[in-house]
This record gives sequence, structure tokens and C-alpha cells, in this order.
Amino acid sequence: MKENKFYQEYAYYYDFICSDRKKDVEVLKKLIKKHKKSKGDKLLDVACGPGLEDKYLKEDFRVTGIDLHPGILNFARNRNPDINYLIGDMRNFKLNEKFDVITCFDAMCHLRNHKDVSMTLKNFYNHLAKGGVLIFYIDDHILKKHFKEDKIVVTQKTKGTLKVILIEIYHKNQNRIESNVIYWIKEKGKTRIEVLPTDYLGFFEVSKIKKMLNKLGFKAYLYSTDKETTFSTRSYTKKSLSPIFICEK
Ligand SMILES: C[S@@+](CC[C@H](N)C(=O)[O-])C[C@H]1O[C@@H](n2cnc3c(N)ncnc32)[C@H](O)[C@@H]1O
Repeated sequence: MKENKFYQEYAYYYDFICSDRKKDVEVLKKLIKKHKKSKGDKLLDVACGPGLEDKYLKEDFRVTGIDLHPGILNFARNRNPDINYLIGDMRNFKLNEKFDVITCFDAMCHLRNHKDVSMTLKNFYNHLAKGGVLIFYIDDHILKKHFKEDKIVVTQKTKGTLKVILIEIYHKNQNRIESNVIYWIKEKGKTRIEVLPTDYLGFFEVSKIKKMLNKLGFKAYLYSTDKETTFSTRSYTKKSLSPIFICEK
């Protein structure tokens, strides 16, 4: 898989602009408690990025993190020096252990097609203990059902002498999503604009993913997110945004 500048060269700004995940992780812990039957407390956070969820997950679990980009893992290691972080591709990493919980947030979009999703879910299944749970969510902007042409997401943050505005534009091109990312950065009074190379994201269907999970032997439950990607314990309905998949093995 091609290196993504967003998580390498621009990892500093990505880490800076990300929001705290305390509230999401509180919801997540409730969902894990409801669905996990295995007795252990080993959790693998796949595509962990800068370790924002791990900061709170480690209060209850023995966490291992894995991500494709060493640049972003530096931020995870700084945030959580007590966690073991590894470099690996979600589609084919191989660890000689099984986990009670596997999480994967805001990252399946980087898989380009349903074949890669299938390979990834199989890999997760193989690393999960019996009675364990897999939890992931899929952003609504890469779901066929929800897609809005030329969707624009703007995020901004100011702290001290640094102000960052991140603009993400999602556009459909045949059977994939083109993602354009622009950073406006004001640092110590000087401004600059950075335009990242176009990235390509998958374009998925919830029903196909459900079928894959069933075929592998998972029992899948779907929950809703409120306002884009805030986790909730409400079941997924046709009106929901991004679905959270909780899959029991
Ligand atoms: C939007 S970030 C999400 C990070 C974190 N899970 C969170 O919710 O804050 C997506 C992450 O997926 C990682 N990633 C992309 N493709 C990957 C792959 N094939 N295997 C593992 N990690 C991958 C990126 O390096 C990045 O850290």
C-alpha cells in the first residue's frame, strides 16, 4: 500500500487537530461489556493512528497498537509510552497471539475495495479469541447509501501560536472516492497552504460487509453514530449515519 503523506509528513498537524476521544471510549466500553464473552483483557487497536482511543482504553485493557505509518506511531508512542506499538498492514499483519477485543476506527476507508475488506476481516477473525469482539465503524462518506457528492469537511483548532484549518473534500470518481486534503497553517504569525496528493478511498455497502462477517462466522450487531462519528449505544437504523459494527466470535 502506498505511503500516505497525511499520516507521515503531516502527522504533526493531524495529531494536533484530532479531538479527544474520552466520551467515545466510554460508550465503547459499554458496548464491549455487553458483547464480550471471553474472560481476558487483551485489546488490539488496529490502525491506531496517534493512540487517542488507547489513552482511555488502557485504563481497562492491556492494549497493543498497530498501524501502517511509522510517522503517526511516533505520536501514539509519545501519548502512551506504556503501550507496545507495532508497524503492520491491517490486511495481512501476523501476530502470534489472540486478543479479546480488536478495534479499528476511522481506517477501513483506506481499503480500496470489498476484496481488501474481506481479507482484513478474515485477518481480524484469526487474531480474535473465542468469545472475543471485533469493533469497527465505517464513515458514512464512503458508504454508497449515504454518499453526498463533493462533501466538504472542515476542522479547525488554535492553540498558542499555532492555528490549523483542515479541509477535506470527497468526490466520487467511478467506483471509488477521491479525497483531497488541504491544510491552512498559521504558525508564529506566518501562514501557508499545503495541498496533499489526491488519495483514493473505498466505496462500500453495509449489506456486503454484513454478508462477509456472517460468512466468517461472526455474529454482527450494528449501532449508530450521532453527528458524524460520535458513538452511541442506539441500534443502527436507515436514518443513522456511520454504522458501528460489533462482531462476536
Ligand atoms: C483517520 S486515521 C484513524 C486513527 C485512529 N484509529 C483514530 O480513530 O484516531 C486512519 C489510520 O489508518 C492507518 N492506516 C491506513 N491504512 C492502513 C492499513 N492498511 N493498515 C494499518 N493501518 C492503516 C493510517 O496510518 C492512520 O493512522
